[in-house]
Amino acid sequence: MSANFLLDCQDLREKRREKRGGEQGGNGPGQLGGEAAQRAGDRVSGESKRPTVRLPTRFGGLPGPRLLVGSLATLVVMAPGVPGELQAAYREPLRGGRGAVAADHELASRAGAEILARGGNAVDAAIATALALGVVQPAGSGLGGGGFLVFRRADGTVRVLDFREVAPKQAHANMFVDEKTGQVVPERSRRGGLAVGVPGEAAGFAQALRELGSLPAEQVIAPALRLAKEGFPVGRHLARSAALVVPQLRAGHPLRVLLAPGGAPLKQGEQWRRPELAETLAVLAKDGFAAYYRLEPSAIGDEILHAVAAAGGVLSADDLRSYKPVWRQPLLGRYRGWQVVTAPPPAGGITALETLQILDARPVFAEGPGASSTLHEIVESFKHAFSDRARYHGDPAFDAVPPELGTAAYAKDRAATISREQVLQPTQYGRPQGNTPAQAPRDHGTSHLCVIDKDGNAAALTTTVNLSFGAHVIAGRTGVLLNNQMDDFAAQSNKPNAFGLVGTGANLVAPGKRPASSMSPLLAVAPDGSVLCVGGSGGPTIVTGVVQTVINVVDFRMTVEAAIAAPRVHAQFIPDSVLVEPEIAADVRAGLQRRGHRLVVTPAALETAVQAVFYRPPRAQVDPGATTPIPVADDRPAEPRGFSVAADPRKGGIPALP
Ligand code: GLY
Repeated sequence: MSANFLLDCQDLREKRREKRGGEQGGNGPGQLGGEAAQRAGDRVSGESKRPTVRLPTRFGGLPGPRLLVGSLATLVVMAPGVPGELQAAYREPLRGGRGAVAADHELASRAGAEILARGGNAVDAAIATALALGVVQPAGSGLGGGGFLVFRRADGTVRVLDFREVAPKQAHANMFVDEKTGQVVPERSRRGGLAVGVPGEAAGFAQALRELGSLPAEQVIAPALRLAKEGFPVGRHLARSAALVVPQLRAGHPLRVLLAPGGAPLKQGEQWRRPELAETLAVLAKDGFAAYYRLEPSAIGDEILHAVAAAGGVLSADDLRSYKPVWRQPLLGRYRGWQVVTAPPPAGGITALETLQILDARPVFAEGPGASSTLHEIVESFKHAFSDRARYHGDPAFDAVPPELGTAAYAKDRAATISREQVLQPTQYGRPQGNTPAQAPRDHGTSHLCVIDKDGNAAALTTTVNLSFGAHVIAGRTGVLLNNQMDDFAAQSNKPNAFGLVGTGANLVAPGKRPASSMSPLLAVAPDGSVLCVGGSGGPTIVTGVVQTVINVVDFRMTVEAAIAAPRVHAQFIPDSVLVEPEIAADVRAGLQRRGHRLVVTPAALETAVQAVFYRPPRAQVDPGATTPIPVADDRPAEPRGFSVAADPRKGGIPALP
């Protein structure tokens, strides 16, 4: 587990201190504070009555800093505590009536809101937001990476675009295995040229803009170009990411030069300009996104090829020329009467959908969001879905992922195996191939954003360079940081990657293949026409963060802000343990342990950052055929009509309205 835990923990606490007024917690509808919290707490029978999303004093009283050796055999840095009062855990969601943007950086959210204000639609704004993220938050995403877009028009049509990186044509199954020892060399798939997959972001944006957007590339690129050219104050996440990576880099390393321009790592608040990236964005604004793949001397593609070759990689001109994004059949399912739309393999939406549908086939939660009975049901469902992920997940062009994994019938079958009182034997989850202990998931990269425009069109876009600052390879003078997405392949069957995820043949490296991803951009549509847009960053904790956010909104009627801030658990089948955020009360933990779960209480918040927008259309826009009331477990009022938007305090995200 990385020291980013420390950072994100700090982010969360700082965010909480920023909470304005109402310290008894959210007086907005659905928030778990004050009376509402008490009601939810009341449902946690026999356990803590404490509102689950408020800071327990023990969270503010952590000793620190100290090193712990956790039961996952990973080194964990414990954050220093913030002594003091009990504080509310989240703010009111931002609300408005003309669209909304949620990104994990305020300047990126504002870039998207600017495009909405200029008349752009959800896809225009999503691309503008993603481009701005690549400028201000380069540890996570950028033009050197790739991702997935889930789009739903207000009329209900849905599209999914896969602009995931692909393995170069010279890639092969043993490229990350030492020839002499036969052992995986993790460094090879994480740093340097061999780690780089063919970037898909620019091609994806070109395709999405052409088919779904409404503005020219020049306008959509403008906010990111302005940020890169004129500069911006370095944010907390970037400063902390730079502080972590710079000491690992030799003097003169191009990434070190970029992140420590004056010798010391960038500091929060310091003004930072990115002139080389500005130049690249200016070329794309002038000539279109296709210019990214141009190969004449000193063109962007040419710079990429030279940089990768110099770093020992095998990316070829043919790889860049032949890269194509793929329109995929959207993955559709149902949860508690809501329609779920997400991205199919190689994206992680299948794991999120399988989990939700297993839960849907179980009785509704008997108790509240923080109860051990609730968390037990959720964890058991995760374990089934992640077990199937380990065996089947990969590029469907190479190995078909069994289509039944996304069906209600399969979910019902798996749901029937779950016991309310006891975990199952490892061999009973999904179709397991064995249970190899592995390290806990870590993540520093990836970014999720949600946009819903004034007409109700929704775009959920997750983008990544994989681990923090990708492969640590900068493409010459372009300012583009290249991904290390090759680490998302299984270097060998059942050998964990950086996230502790294992895979089998379905996810072994092959030329032209896309690595399995956890990215799960997801839209959920209520029977009354309301739309929840959600997604996250954080490796496999994306899936678990997204699912728990959906549950909090759909089952527990939380506002998006409360749903995101609520403490989470994470289980991915292998390793056979459950990560538990520290705010989950001791008696709840005991309830889980009694059922046989092995818990690892994280010293700080999980490294997941979920962003969400909830849109409740005006009555007039609701399809008259879709007036079934939303099935809910309580009588609190629903979200007001219009837009509610929230970004995860774990990463310091701030949403924006046009
Ligand atoms: N690179 C992170 C993911 O795709 O899951």
